[in-house]
Amino acid sequence: LFISLIMAGCGGKQEASSSDKAVAPEKIVAKFSHVTATGTPKGLAAEKFADLVKEKTNGQVEIEVFPSGQLFGDKDEFEALQANNVQFIAPSAGKLISFDPRFQIGDMPFLFKNNQGASKFWDSEKGQELLQSLESQGMIGLTAWPNGMRQIMNSKKEIKSPEDLKGLKFRIPAGGVLVDIFQTLGAGTSSIAFSEVYPALQQKVVDGTIASFDNIENEKYEEVLKYLTIANMNSLAYVVIVNKEFWDGLPADTREIVKECMTEATAYERELADQLDEESLAKLKQKINVYELTEQDHQAFVKSMEPVWAKYESVVGKDLIDAVVELNR
Ligand code: LMR
Repeated sequence: LFISLIMAGCGGKQEASSSDKAVAPEKIVAKFSHVTATGTPKGLAAEKFADLVKEKTNGQVEIEVFPSGQLFGDKDEFEALQANNVQFIAPSAGKLISFDPRFQIGDMPFLFKNNQGASKFWDSEKGQELLQSLESQGMIGLTAWPNGMRQIMNSKKEIKSPEDLKGLKFRIPAGGVLVDIFQTLGAGTSSIAFSEVYPALQQKVVDGTIASFDNIENEKYEEVLKYLTIANMNSLAYVVIVNKEFWDGLPADTREIVKECMTEATAYERELADQLDEESLAKLKQKINVYELTEQDHQAFVKSMEPVWAKYESVVGKDLIDAVVELNR
């Protein structure tokens, strides 16, 4: 017979068996909600984290993972996290724009080169400082899980130059710099939650989207879109966030163990990210038209983004941008 105790000052559900009397520590149950499929680096790393936590706390802490936006999606996960209705989420950094516009750093066009550069930035003093800015809003940014670069897909034409985007409409995950990137190229945008992208593409609400290889493959965008351009336009990186009240309410020794599990899960995610990205690209090449920007094409895109840089450098912060440039050499 189990009784559930919601501990004051501690978010996750805590359960204690009445037959265990006072000696057994309460079981702590926390929820980890995210929007991608289980087979993605984020999905697999969340599962790994849950397994490690269960093993290393001898079952005292249980993390329940909810993938594919089953529990909360892009629209309600922040509210749910702040209300402590979910304890862990891992949105892409740009979705944190309303908490701090500097989180758009990953979306700055052609700034990051790859996952390694992203990891170096988020682990650096500047990256950590940015993660810590969430604390005043009841959340703790634990770490970042990079997941490749965002590529350009659409149903209308092969994209080789900035001019090719003119007149097309793209799905974007969040507003801000992404809106300006497309506007500068004469293209329209619509901010659509991740779980609604496939139907939006199918119903031609938009002509295309930006996405990492593994998300394209897991979401089966190739079924509804024809052209993929490898542009490496921006860095897709997830910020793993925990509710502060829940985190601070964990017994100190338990919190230390959970933290170590997060470090281990992060190493696992980062290893997987490159590997799965490569595998997804290989599979996509069998199914869809893939064009990779040449160095010359790339330079034309970089040049076309000058107005975007002029507008956003001060929004995102020159100090952060300089740190990325330095770490991405
Ligand atoms: C998106 O909305 O495109 C991404 O943030 C989805 C994800 O979490 O990979």
